[in-house]
Amino acid sequence: MQKLIIANWKSNKSPAQAGAWAQEVAALGGQEISTGVTPIVALAFTLLPAVSESLQKIGWSLATQDLSPFAAGSYTGAVSAINLQGLNVRYAILGHSERRRYFQETSAMVAQKVDQALQAGLTPVVCVDEKTVAEQARVLGADVTGQCIVAYEPSESIGTGNNAPVGKVKEFREEVMRLFGAVPFIYGGSVNESNAAEYLLVADGVLVGEASLDAKQFIALLHSARGNSQAAV
Ligand code: PGA
Repeated sequence: MQKLIIANWKSNKSPAQAGAWAQEVAALGGQEISTGVTPIVALAFTLLPAVSESLQKIGWSLATQDLSPFAAGSYTGAVSAINLQGLNVRYAILGHSERRRYFQETSAMVAQKVDQALQAGLTPVVCVDEKTVAEQARVLGADVTGQCIVAYEPSESIGTGNNAPVGKVKEFREEVMRLFGAVPFIYGGSVNESNAAEYLLVADGVLVGEASLDAKQFIALLHSARGNSQAAV
């Protein structure tokens, strides 16, 4: 499979900055790059209209960083799958450690969101670490685990520059395969253009926070990822 390179902007960027980033990646050859890897941009809901069309034109997909645990209805403040229709969203990052930590998200809530994503035809990217992986797999249940992309995000590596040793990622992958089945497995935590390629030898993709905010840096990362996109896992 093509390597999944997911930019996670978190709560960064104004709509104007998001639009400028999309223009810049297109001008830097974003379309040509996407023949070797699958670039996906996960951004705040309000930024979707600013980039949806231009990124679709170059063949990139969009992801949300969260999703309502409920379908459309009386859930003030929540963004349901139907609210996203027509915006080129194909993936939803769910259960990121920052959501679990700052918004008290539990594995049960994540499972509800995964269910909503699947019903809407969105692919859930479920984030786990050593502490949550077994519980999350159990709560999702065997029918659902196999439909997810699993992201290993060790919290000590997120935003710290302290990226995980590749051997540890490889080991964690084995645990994910045991608990979730043969699902796509990606790594996130201080990934940048200098270290992305080594993770792609043991993972099907990377989730990139800080190093995705600058268009040039993200394009450089895609180039380095492409160099290894054919490598065996
Ligand atoms: P980082 O974030 O690349 O800034 O460490 C990764 C993530 O949280 O997805």
